[in-house]
Amino acid sequence: MRVIFLGPPGAGKGTQAARLAAELGVPRISTGDMLRAAIAQGTPLGQQARPSMGRGNLVPDELLLALVRERLTQPDCAGGCVFDGFPRTLGQARGLEQMTEGTAHAWLVFEIEVPREVLLLRLSGRRWCPGCQATFHVVNDPPRRPDVCDACGRALVQREDDQEAVVAQRLRQYDERTAPLVEHYRSRARLVPVDGDRTMDVVFRELLEAVEVRA
Ligand code: AP5
Repeated sequence: MRVIFLGPPGAGKGTQAARLAAELGVPRISTGDMLRAAIAQGTPLGQQARPSMGRGNLVPDELLLALVRERLTQPDCAGGCVFDGFPRTLGQARGLEQMTEGTAHAWLVFEIEVPREVLLLRLSGRRWCPGCQATFHVVNDPPRRPDVCDACGRALVQREDDQEAVVAQRLRQYDERTAPLVEHYRSRARLVPVDGDRTMDVVFRELLEAVEVRA
């Protein structure tokens, strides 16, 4: 099975995709994490992506498609994967269809819906580990020690793109460029709307039920 998560910034895609990938025993392909790692390592991809990400804009499709194409050739993806933050444009969706044409995986697309005011609270309270990319929230999912990563012990920070002005642009980009994918997938995959404004555990249970129905 291949799973896609659609949803605006802060909807909980990363949180749920990590749990679902672990449950299914398949890799989570987070293009946001891959791009942040490329920036941290100063690779050519990171240098190309940084200006767009810093302003809250999407990184060009051709860079993303090359990144995902290469990732899907790795053996751990043979049994399926969970996409987190990809595809995000119609061009990426079509590119993904081309690169996976002829494979036998079933597609399941979750559309996570969360009210705007809740998204803003989640993003302003998010804390992120620059070492292992684990995500926390100061209220909803606090680390055991304040501002210290439970997984690797590094100091937690705010993501640069979680500043208010950048968040506003990320939300605009979602509305204009990613939201149309809901219609795209309605006729091409099993599209499951999910009320993401509930606890992480309740949301996760609903995802698992959908996966079991689909499997
Ligand atoms: P990316 O890293 O993908 O960010 P995003 O899509 O904006 O999503 P977020 O990571 O902000 O939120 P999320 O939905 O994963 O929520 P999370 O689980 O963390 O992309 C960043 C940038 O990279 C983009 O702007 C773009 O520039 C570039 N990029 C990436 N992919 C690209 C692509 N395909 N094409 C072009 N450009 C691309 O949760 C948020 C917070 O809420 C956390 O603190 C969490 O603890 C908390 N939380 C989660 N669930 C709940 C819950 N149920 N209840 C209470 N709190 C919760």
